[in-house]
Amino acid sequence: MAKTFFIETWGCQMNDLDSQRLSGSLKLRGWQRVDDEHNASLILLNTCSIREKAENKVFSRLGELRERKLERDLRIGVCGCVAQQEGERILARAPWVDFVMGPGNVGHLDEVLAGGKAIAVDFPEDRRYDYLTIDRPSATKAQVTIIEGCNKNCTFCIVPTTRGREISRPFDDVLAEVRFAVETGRVEIELLGQTVNAYRCPATNRDFGALLSAVASIDGVRRLRFMTSHPAEVNNSMIHAMRDHANISRYLHLPVQSGSSKVLRRMKRLYTREKYLEMLQRIREAIPQIHFSTDIIVGFPGETEDDFQQTLSLIEEVRYGSLFAFKYSPRPGTPALRIGEAVDDDIATDRLTRLFALHERIKQERLESYRGKVLSVLVEGPSKHDPSMLSGRTDDNWVVNFVADPSTPLGSMLGVRIDDALHHTLRGEATT
Ligand code: 5AD
Repeated sequence: MAKTFFIETWGCQMNDLDSQRLSGSLKLRGWQRVDDEHNASLILLNTCSIREKAENKVFSRLGELRERKLERDLRIGVCGCVAQQEGERILARAPWVDFVMGPGNVGHLDEVLAGGKAIAVDFPEDRRYDYLTIDRPSATKAQVTIIEGCNKNCTFCIVPTTRGREISRPFDDVLAEVRFAVETGRVEIELLGQTVNAYRCPATNRDFGALLSAVASIDGVRRLRFMTSHPAEVNNSMIHAMRDHANISRYLHLPVQSGSSKVLRRMKRLYTREKYLEMLQRIREAIPQIHFSTDIIVGFPGETEDDFQQTLSLIEEVRYGSLFAFKYSPRPGTPALRIGEAVDDDIATDRLTRLFALHERIKQERLESYRGKVLSVLVEGPSKHDPSMLSGRTDDNWVVNFVADPSTPLGSMLGVRIDDALHHTLRGEATT
């Protein structure tokens, strides 16, 4: 049968990049990527287990794939965080799966495919990372892992189990990868890590701020972004790098999770409401145009209406531009399971609705405030809804759809006058 493969990806940017690495390594070995799973002789599901819903999807997909396997010669691999978390239990529940491979083994796919390991859920010392073969979907943007895993112990979170302990890549490897990405046309670089700002070069101990400055100084890097920072790891070195390099996006995703210090303590987030707010103030003083975004969990065990009100008041105070909020989902083996006092599901749903309503108003006010202004936009491609327009992002990470010369090269930086604020995006016309 032809060596054709299909990858389906759920979850975070890290998983996206893992799929790009898997795809690149397969192509190097003579495999061809197909967009229709019916034409594939290998199907990889790159899974997410951050919440129970994401995990359940995997098993329903595996149910469908069982049928395909009856029809033809097909291998099925479960990769990503559900693979890591469930290991051989996946084979017990879905024996038609051929192999289970966790995030630590992305660089070892060839051994897994060769049949040496049906269950690869270790974290090999030698985590191969071949940046020359990454199959990047964008011609203008490259994601670059700088640190994997997480050493924090947030009581709700499965990531330390699924992605292992923190391990940073050497500084010079990261720079070499960025230079290579720039040489192949990528003008936008996004540095990735579960706790990206905990980065420390294993050879020289240089920190995240030093790395940001070094990457921002590489010729050809028009925009530099990073994801995801932990509030307890924010320091002056990082803030100063953002302040001093105009090509570092004025956007900072800083998950707060809750506005109540009591809940934050129970989550083991390592900061209080007051400390978090003080830090944001400090960052705003250094970088006045900064756009903050955040993640919030509602209905964490023991969360009272008063705790939730504190979350709402924190959102009002910070005026986040974007926000991702989730109902707490119990994860296997995490300490929050023992914290008890589960919040009733109806109450959690109601809190989530109220939170989104509040944020919607704040977001609209912020978007409206851009009307009439000229913003600098990095062109990413045609607009999804109206291909006669172009689409791109501002320096502070808002999506803008705009009228411009259709022959404008992707990756250009243009001035765009904003004339409308829609639901999530801005609309305008190029001035340059
Ligand atoms: N339940 C709900 N949301 C969670 N997150 C992480 N773990 C859980 C969980 N058990 C959310 C956090 C995190 C984001 C990526 O997912 O808000 O920042």
